[in-house]
Amino acid sequence: MTRRIAVFGAGYIGLVTGACLAELGHTVVVRDIAEDKVAALRAGRVPIYEPGLAELIAANAERLTFTLDADEATAEAEVVYVCVDTPPTASGDADLSRVWAVVDSAKGAAHLKAFVVKSTVPVGTGARIRAALDTAGLAGVGYGSNPEFTAEGRAVRDFMRPDRIVIGAFDEATAALVAEIHEGVDGPVITMDVPSAEMVKLTSNAFLATKISFANEIANICETTGADVTRVLGAVGADHRLGKHFLHAGIGWGGSCFPKDAVALKALASNGGYHPQILTDVIEVNNHQRRRAVTRLKDEIGALAGKTVAVLGMTFKPGTDDMREAPSTVIVDRLLSEGASVVCWDPMARTPHHAPWTAIRRAESVEEALSGAHAAMVVTEWPQLQAVDWRLAADSMADAVLFDGRNALEPERMGECGYTYISVGRATVRP
Ligand code: UDX
Repeated sequence: MTRRIAVFGAGYIGLVTGACLAELGHTVVVRDIAEDKVAALRAGRVPIYEPGLAELIAANAERLTFTLDADEATAEAEVVYVCVDTPPTASGDADLSRVWAVVDSAKGAAHLKAFVVKSTVPVGTGARIRAALDTAGLAGVGYGSNPEFTAEGRAVRDFMRPDRIVIGAFDEATAALVAEIHEGVDGPVITMDVPSAEMVKLTSNAFLATKISFANEIANICETTGADVTRVLGAVGADHRLGKHFLHAGIGWGGSCFPKDAVALKALASNGGYHPQILTDVIEVNNHQRRRAVTRLKDEIGALAGKTVAVLGMTFKPGTDDMREAPSTVIVDRLLSEGASVVCWDPMARTPHHAPWTAIRRAESVEEALSGAHAAMVVTEWPQLQAVDWRLAADSMADAVLFDGRNALEPERMGECGYTYISVGRATVRP
């Protein structure tokens, strides 16, 4: 059975959710407060880059509309899906003001069958929204928690073929309705109480971040022992109890979810009177790992003042244009404060209009970025890096020193191409 669904928020999650729900046959209106965003979407332009999303939106244009008007969106809908962002406040707690704004706009909508939250929220938020709906006379509107686990760059695929669909509800009818909305999605449904569903999202992201910080710690130990972290973790991950995913050492995790959710879970624990030691260390290891990248370059080439450093990759990972919490921001900031000139290359990122990005030069190609540079740093493992003629590029550099913060390139080959090649958790190779 298809439904009329209002999706609040036209960010990465809202747009993917809206487009995929329309693809499943539902009639969807996506509401956002940003006039330019809604205007672009109405004109057929997708304001973010996510593979397959623009095509999906175009293919479902008949069932997928965009509006600025919250009342109009809610009035027509049977189900409201909340996909607004919940950024951290100064205290580290999640800022729920956008979520509550949606609750407020739904207060007259007793005709709704369900109010479903996809935004990542602290545990206990669902119970508070439930109480607010009850107080507003909306006891008949079911409440559902339906956390998202989509990763940028593969979000459409993750939505349509997820490892699991987690549904938290206070009553069986709402759980069944949210499950029914997902008919056609290829993945098992796991139903539970609302607080547990809220906790699943935070825990999943914290655990993935923990695996990466652990891999980075092991990499740093490997550097002092002569072991090769890619070999070590490749074999460690072959143990089915441990798994090979999210064990790639590098310059640390970034993005719109891990940093925010790790801090939010930490705040949640502290608010409840528990000091989350492991989580605290996972965050600290990550912060350290970004700074360490510049320290390791300095250890090799000495003071950076007056030198030009090419930064290859700006986004927090390949396959996205997202710069949120990108490790590159910390790295570029540190390079500039050490007195280096920075030239950046990225095939997708838009240069942010704030420091440190306002002080950099942007190159059109990897080759242009490398030409004349005293050192280069691989910060995002874009596949384009594999196609570079590294031998030719080495000749164009003032000094062929390359720090590979993603272990994206082959050490031996880089040595043959003439580089002093420094990577993470592997021995430095010299020409
Ligand atoms: C993540 C979760 O994967 C997703 O389930 C959740 O819904 C949102 O947060 P995303 O932020 O898109 O998705 O990025 P992801 O692919 O998970 O990578 C996060 C960060 O970890 C990136 O900066 C990436 O470069 C880094 N990473 C990932 C590593 O450093 N090593 C790894 O082994 C894996």
